[in-house]
Amino acid sequence: LFHTALVDSYLRFGTRGYVLPESYQNIADKIYNMPVRSDDVWVVTFPKSGTTWVQELVWMVANDCDFAKSAEIKLIQRFPFLEFTVLYDNDKGRDLLDQMSKSEDEDLILISKNMSRCSVEKVKNISSRRFIKTHVPLSLLPPQLLDTCKVVYVARDPRDVAISYFHHCKLTNTTRFTGDLKEFWNYFINNLVFAAPVIEHVKEAWELRHHKNMLFLFYEDLLKDLPKGIKQVADFLGKNLTEEQVSRLSDHLTFENFKKNKSVNYEFMKDLNIFSKDESFVRKGKSGGWREQFDDEMKQQAERWIQEGLRGSSLRYPDTQ
Ligand code: A3P
Repeated sequence: LFHTALVDSYLRFGTRGYVLPESYQNIADKIYNMPVRSDDVWVVTFPKSGTTWVQELVWMVANDCDFAKSAEIKLIQRFPFLEFTVLYDNDKGRDLLDQMSKSEDEDLILISKNMSRCSVEKVKNISSRRFIKTHVPLSLLPPQLLDTCKVVYVARDPRDVAISYFHHCKLTNTTRFTGDLKEFWNYFINNLVFAAPVIEHVKEAWELRHHKNMLFLFYEDLLKDLPKGIKQVADFLGKNLTEEQVSRLSDHLTFENFKKNKSVNYEFMKDLNIFSKDESFVRKGKSGGWREQFDDEMKQQAERWIQEGLRGSSLRYPDTQ
């Protein structure tokens, strides 16, 4: 059990020592043993790797580009976050959820109900077809997952993940990180953030990338060629999209449109006081930001750390090749 400026009480799980909240103990077995279904679609990622973007992409492809339903029902409800409750199972988190449920605003009450959909028990009971988001690494998920259902894994250059994570920890009122990027970076490379170690997380999926039920994507490749990514997802899910659908969906998923899209941009979390008003969830949407934001020492540390992490693996991040 350990505490840092970032986390309350965390434990390490599995042989790779994944950092998850202490309360993950209460659901670890439930998740590992949860029944999975052949038509499930899971999006598995390390946080801040483009999860939300790919969730919307996957959902839209699987649902024949149902723009009306996507606008009507928030992504958090269409695509629940499996272990969401453990992130709020601490004093600050419970206060926030409590405030939320007492809200007088009907929209907020509805959203708080949607958020409470995000627990293992609830996810277990959703009618098919289920779309499930998780940051839990593959080795802690049900062992039959890949042989049973479809899994989309998204990876991103860990230096950009660190910057995005830093802003996320300033954004959320449960963490409200007040240090600077360099301080955060030290937590990050010493595996003192939720779901760390990041490179291990990615390597597990990379090793399974050729499995017929796994689609392994890089955030950077989606940024370079989104229509290609959409077609890859469509092939993977056995869907035929017309060129017009691909083009409309690409437009729907551009950073600018995503940022404005209330169904996916988590702006409602500001009204719930879960997110601070000074930052945004859909923040910058670029790759390589670390080149300007890291000082020389951080760049050198990153190079060594990535080299070390990738030793013995054929995994290469697009930016580091
Ligand atoms: P930045 O903070 O670098 O901008 P996650 O969903 O895993 O938390 O990932 C969040 C990251 O994905 C953020 O990165 C966010 O801006 C980026 N993102 C979200 N929507 C995007 C889009 N439509 N295009 C590009 N990046 C997007």
